[in-house]
Amino acid sequence: MADTLETQSRDSGQAQGVRQINSMAAFGSRIDSYIVPDFETLNRQLLEEVAALQAGDEGIKSSNQFGWHSQRDFFAREEPAFRTLRGHIRSALTQSVRRYWKGFDPLVHKTSCDGWINVNGRGGFNTPHDHAIHDLSGCYYVSTPHRSEHSGGMIEFLNPAGAYSPTRPFSEMLLQRRITARPKAGHMLIFPSYMVHWVYPNQEDEDRVTIAFNLSVLESKERIDAAQAAAG
Ligand SMILES: [Fe+2]
Repeated sequence: MADTLETQSRDSGQAQGVRQINSMAAFGSRIDSYIVPDFETLNRQLLEEVAALQAGDEGIKSSNQFGWHSQRDFFAREEPAFRTLRGHIRSALTQSVRRYWKGFDPLVHKTSCDGWINVNGRGGFNTPHDHAIHDLSGCYYVSTPHRSEHSGGMIEFLNPAGAYSPTRPFSEMLLQRRITARPKAGHMLIFPSYMVHWVYPNQEDEDRVTIAFNLSVLESKERIDAAQAAAG
């Protein structure tokens, strides 16, 4: 028969007074949320610009299923609302980078961004994927149609410690397996690019429109350490 924690009386003579000296969080991941100012006006303009772009472009195939995925040129386009949103994305990315690297200065340190537009009509969804060749990834929500009684259009993040397999109730207390969120229009999420995520099928006739982006920080360890030391 396997031992249990009930065998305490047998061993208590040898082991007494054990005392916890520390408990540290380990390998935590962080999802940052932002809200864009005056997003109602911006989103109306974005929807017009997205519709014009989509009308003349078949898009590309990526994690999108039954949805339209633009070219990855969002950061190079000249449409006015795209430019405005890029400013907000850059500002949010800077804040998120600084959670990890306080001394980060976007005017001094080398980075690379790319972005694209997703339009998921009814039934459109994104299969589980990550953006792990980058550092931080994110999504801005232009239009997120849903009725309260179903999960259509939600985004779900899977715990990066995915190899852990026990299914007992206590196992679930050790490791939260998934985080499911329904960001509102005007909100932006930023998360580490290694986080696997997917999007539930849109169950509405109205399009679900999002703008996704990646950031890579291209600086050397020496420059990162020097800026970090200067920032205290
Ligand atoms: Fe994604």
